[in-house]
Amino acid sequence: MSAGADAGPKAKSTLTIAIPKGRVTRPLVELFSRAGIDAGVLLADDRRLVREAAGLRFLLLKPDDVPTYVEYGVADLGVSGRDVLLERRYELYQPLDLGVGRCRMVVAGRRGGSAPAAPRVATKYPRITAEHFAARGVQAEVIYVQGSVELAPLVGLSDLIVDLVETGTTLTENDLEERELIVNVSSVLVANRAQYKLRHGDVQPLVERLRRAVAASNGR
Ligand code: PRP
Repeated sequence: MSAGADAGPKAKSTLTIAIPKGRVTRPLVELFSRAGIDAGVLLADDRRLVREAAGLRFLLLKPDDVPTYVEYGVADLGVSGRDVLLERRYELYQPLDLGVGRCRMVVAGRRGGSAPAAPRVATKYPRITAEHFAARGVQAEVIYVQGSVELAPLVGLSDLIVDLVETGTTLTENDLEERELIVNVSSVLVANRAQYKLRHGDVQPLVERLRRAVAASNGR
C-alpha cells in the first residue's frame, strides 16, 4: 500500500465522503472552502484514491460510482450529479443541492436536420431517454454509448442524442443543435439513509455548513 493510502477500517469519528473525480472536483473544493473546510488535498496531482483533510476522509471515484459507495455505507456522504441519480434510482437521502456542476440534459441533433418519426437515439442515459420519448408517444430506439456521444449522429449511428450540455461548445463544434430540454442538472449531496440517522450528530453540522455556503453562493 502506498504512503497515505489508508484504506483500512475507518475510525468511528471520521466521516467519509465520496467525491467525483473530474470537472466538478475544483468547484466542489471551492465550495468546501467557503464552508470552512480545506479540501485542497483533493486537487493534488497524484494517484491516491483515499485522502484525508480537515478531519474528513475523502474517496476519489468515477462520478457514476459515487452513489454505490454511499448506498452500501462505505461512505457516509457523497457528491453526485442529478443525472446519475435519475438514471439509476438509488436508495439515498439527498439533503442538499450543492449548486455546482450546473448543466442540462438535452435532446440534440444535426444542425438544421430533422429526425424520423421513430428515431434512433444514442446516450449514456438509456432509462431517462426511453422514458422521455415514451412520455411523448415517440417510439425511439435507444442505443447505449459510454461517452463522446456527440459522434453518433455525425457518423450515422443515431438520429439524435441525449447528453449533458454545459457551455454548448461540444455541440457547436460537432455541428449539432439543442432540440429539447429534458432536465436541469447539478451536483447534490447524497447520504446513506442509515448513517444519516446513526451519525446524525456528525453529519448534520457538516450539512449545515455546506447549506450556508451554498446559500451564500446563491445570494452572490
Ligand atoms: C460532457 C458531456 C458533453 C460535454 C458538454 O462530456 O457528455 O460531451 O461534456 O460540455 P460543453 O457543453 O461545455 O461542451 P465529458 O467532457 O464529461 O466527456 P464524455 O464525452 O466522455 O462524457
